[in-house]
Amino acid sequence: MTAPALSVTGLHKSFGANAVLRGIDLQAQDGEVISLIGASGSGNSTFLRCIPMLEVPDSGRVAVGEQVIEPQNGILSRRDKVTARTIRSELGFVFQSFNLWPHRTVLEKVIEAPIHLQGRPPRPAVRRADKRAGP
Ligand SMILES: Nc1ncnc2c1ncn2[C@@H]1O[C@H](COP(=O)(O)OP(=O)(O)OP(=O)(O)O)[C@@H](O)[C@H]1O
Ligand SMILES: [Mg+2]
Repeated sequence: MTAPALSVTGLHKSFGANAVLRGIDLQAQDGEVISLIGASGSGNSTFLRCIPMLEVPDSGRVAVGEQVIEPQNGILSRRDKVTARTIRSELGFVFQSFNLWPHRTVLEKVIEAPIHLQGRPPRPAVRRADKRAGP
C-alpha cells in the first residue's frame, strides 16, 4: 500500500505557556482536499506551518510521502533539517497575509520556486506553468 500524501501524528506545539496544538492527527491521501476550520487563534496557521517545519513542533511525527520528521523537544536533528528542505521543495504553501511581490506578474511568481528551489531551467518552468493555467 502506498503511503498517504500527508500523515501527521500526535503533533504538539506550545508558545511558552500557550499550548496551541495538543496532539493533532491528520492523514491526507493524494488528491484529497481537506478544509481545516477553527476559531481565530486556535492554531490553524501554526498547524500548517509545522508541516514544512516553518514552525518546529515540540513533538509528534510529520510524514510527507516517504519523508518523515520527528522533532524531539522542539529540536530538529541534522537529518530532520535535510528532510525538511526536501519537503519544502515539494510543498506549496500560500501564506495568510499578503506576501507576494507587487512588481511581478502571476507567471513570474509561479516560476520563481521551480527555478530557484528546484533548479529547473526557465523555459520548461514557463511551459509547465502555462500548461497548468489552462481552464
Ligand atoms: N511565533 C509565535 N510566538 C508566540 N505565539 C504565537 C506564535 N505564533 C502563533 N502564536 C500564538 O499561537 C496561537 C495560534 O496562532 P495561529 O496563528 O496558529 O492562529 P490561527 O488559528 O491561524 O488564527 P487566525 O485564524 O486568526 O489566522 C495564538 O494564540 C497566537 O498568538
Ligand atoms: Mg492563521
